[in-house]
Amino acid sequence: MGKVALITGIAGQDGSFLAELLLSKGYRVHGMVRRSSLEPSNMERISHILPEIEIHEGDLLDQARLSELVAKVSPDELYALAAQSHVGVSFKEPVHTAEITGLGALRILEAVRHSPNPLKTRVYQAGSSEEFGDVAESPQSESTVLRARSPYGAAKIFAHHACKVYREAYGMHVSVGVLFNHESEHRGLNFVTRKITHHVAMQALGITSEPLVLGNLDSKRDWGHAEDYVRAMWLMLQQDTPDDYVIATGETHTVREFVEAAYRQASCIEINWSGIGTDERGLAEPDECWDERAAAEIRGKTIVCVSPEFYRPADVETLTGDASKARRVLGWKPEVDFRTLVKRMVLNDMYLLQP
Ligand code: GDD
Repeated sequence: MGKVALITGIAGQDGSFLAELLLSKGYRVHGMVRRSSLEPSNMERISHILPEIEIHEGDLLDQARLSELVAKVSPDELYALAAQSHVGVSFKEPVHTAEITGLGALRILEAVRHSPNPLKTRVYQAGSSEEFGDVAESPQSESTVLRARSPYGAAKIFAHHACKVYREAYGMHVSVGVLFNHESEHRGLNFVTRKITHHVAMQALGITSEPLVLGNLDSKRDWGHAEDYVRAMWLMLQQDTPDDYVIATGETHTVREFVEAAYRQASCIEINWSGIGTDERGLAEPDECWDERAAAEIRGKTIVCVSPEFYRPADVETLTGDASKARRVLGWKPEVDFRTLVKRMVLNDMYLLQP
């Protein structure tokens, strides 16, 4: 008989990859989804595996329902992935973010603690590199001080500390994955990587001639592929002892470099940057593969610009992770590098958007 897993946020990017991984390992997979997310458009990422998984309605705001669900499913492994996960949104909705991302994690821990067999269920809590915030050192590891710079980061720190408390006070098997940015073809359009690849693909296919409008181009992130990162989640729960692990590639790129790589991939265009701050523009420079007449038409056109709308009141400038503990203890390492990540996302968007 296979193990039983419960995934909150199963319809999201990570939830969908994790569900596929667990099914491939013979798990019985249950997923929790909010009633409002049950519409087919929100279930697209898992529509192909719906016959193999069991979906339950539930909400991180509802302690009674969570407790009932955990008691009923009695999972061997519970992956707490659901959250309000957009950092920018957390500045507009700080209280909601604290309720869902912070207290929601605590409600999961309470549901497990009060379940008939609390020590049976191993819990994975989705931590975040956003917890490092105004980074105290670089690269960041499990011992780096947490100094949030957003309501989202603050809520994740609360959840992280709560996990440690439940581990120590009640002996529960709770592990926290401090995951750096992880992207994929399944990423939501409101995160910067997918926003870029989707728009660049639309421009390349002639669907839009509007420029790509972004915020902080100088922000640096350690970007990996979500499929690699869900493998790390699973590995954490296979350990006898619960612990915290940083999961990252160790390689950092600016948003600007992501944009450049995406244009190169989609349309063999280099970018000449001009201006500073919100006046900055990215001008097209077709490479030598272009027919000279077509190149002359596009050369110098503004294809990227900057708007204050996408700036945050405070931003984490640079994140670089040191995942050596995960490499050593879990035997984990990322398979997808930055170039491949951009390529996969761009090609996928071009495929999805082709007429
Ligand atoms: N979303 C967005 N949209 N971000 C932009 C834009 C834009 O138009 N322009 C520039 N950025 C910058 C943001 O200011 C930020 O510095 C960086 O791009 C990455 O933004 P996001 O893709 O929204 O990700 P994030 O780093 O804020 O948060 C993601 O990673 C965390 C792990 O560190 C999310 O997935 C979090 O849930 C996750 O915990």
